[in-house]
Amino acid sequence: MISYGRQWIDEEDKEEVMKVLDSDWLTTGPKIREFESTLCKYVGCKYSVVLNSGTSALDVAVGALDFPERSEVITTPFTFAATSNSLLYNHLKPVFADIQKDTRNIDPEDIRRKITPKTKAISYVDYAGHPCGIKEITEVAEEHGLYLIEDACHSLGASYHGKKIGNFADITVFSFHPVKPITTGEGGAVVTNDPELAERARLLSNHGIDKSADERYGPDAGWAYDMKMLGRNYRMTDIQAALGISQLKKLDMFIERRQEIAELYNELLKDCEFVETPITKDGIKHGWHIYTVLLKNINRDKFFTHMRKSGIGVNVHYIPIYHFSYYRKHFSFDEKDFPVTEDVFRRIITLPIYPKMSDKDVDLVVKTIKEYASI
Ligand SMILES: Cc1ncc(COP(=O)(O)O)c(C=O)c1O
Repeated sequence: MISYGRQWIDEEDKEEVMKVLDSDWLTTGPKIREFESTLCKYVGCKYSVVLNSGTSALDVAVGALDFPERSEVITTPFTFAATSNSLLYNHLKPVFADIQKDTRNIDPEDIRRKITPKTKAISYVDYAGHPCGIKEITEVAEEHGLYLIEDACHSLGASYHGKKIGNFADITVFSFHPVKPITTGEGGAVVTNDPELAERARLLSNHGIDKSADERYGPDAGWAYDMKMLGRNYRMTDIQAALGISQLKKLDMFIERRQEIAELYNELLKDCEFVETPITKDGIKHGWHIYTVLLKNINRDKFFTHMRKSGIGVNVHYIPIYHFSYYRKHFSFDEKDFPVTEDVFRRIITLPIYPKMSDKDVDLVVKTIKEYASI
């Protein structure tokens, strides 16, 4: 099976992990600080906190903003559940806005329509690694005094009009799951240019305790610490951080290869009458975390079965959040309010893309797609 996404781990990655295993610090050690400063340097932002998953990072990003309970946050329904679950963890109400068909990103005009006196923030996702309409979203936020949370779990390394993702929202979240732009096994990060948000995110990720283990270590350190807020243990290990530092060195190369594969798909599928290939807007450096197409005049689920049975690990990103039984039980969203999301959901399919994928693999995927026409 050619999977839809997978990691690239090389000998250097393994050596860096082995060095940590032989060291004194498996967690809360020097590799954490090094990964955080390397990530800041790469993104070009001031502060970062690395954590044990993108989901944890979303939870502390939302928590750091400290909105009153039951405040509303406008977000996209066309995402992984963690984006809106992070609002529920923090006793906030998700309000969904519809998406745009071409990028599958949240529609700034529908955000406008969903604003109420209770709205405090917009949480937007750079779907597939294509940054959202950040200018338009920022304008809406400024007009209404709203905070911005960027779920950039797909878009580490992507950029918007020459500036790297991680410098636009009040707080931005990355994921280092194996299918993501870089991996630490599980892992994530928040980045921000706001020192107070960074401090609150750090506290929330370590039980709310104001001194880390390394600050309480050594001949001059004391034993005392305070617990200032109700946090969690969302800490990343040094083993993961060492892998992250090593992976980050290869990120630009990974994205370059993803870009080549996307271009190859676009070229090979341009004459395929039942496939609509994805677009990249002007001024965007796409991260190509996933490559999705919209199917025209054929049944997506029959096509999915054909591909899977032929060894191609296609997938569907995403099931709209309001379809899930948990959300149906606790909320009363109406599918009719999201016509574009519904249309895209019925027709979308994710084709394999990952940096180690060969041109031959791409040819095989395309050949298998085209075979469907003759079934
Ligand atoms: C858009 C988005 N947000 C959040 C997450 C959660 O990240 P993690 O799996 O690292 O917890 C994912 C992961 O799939 C995602 O795609």
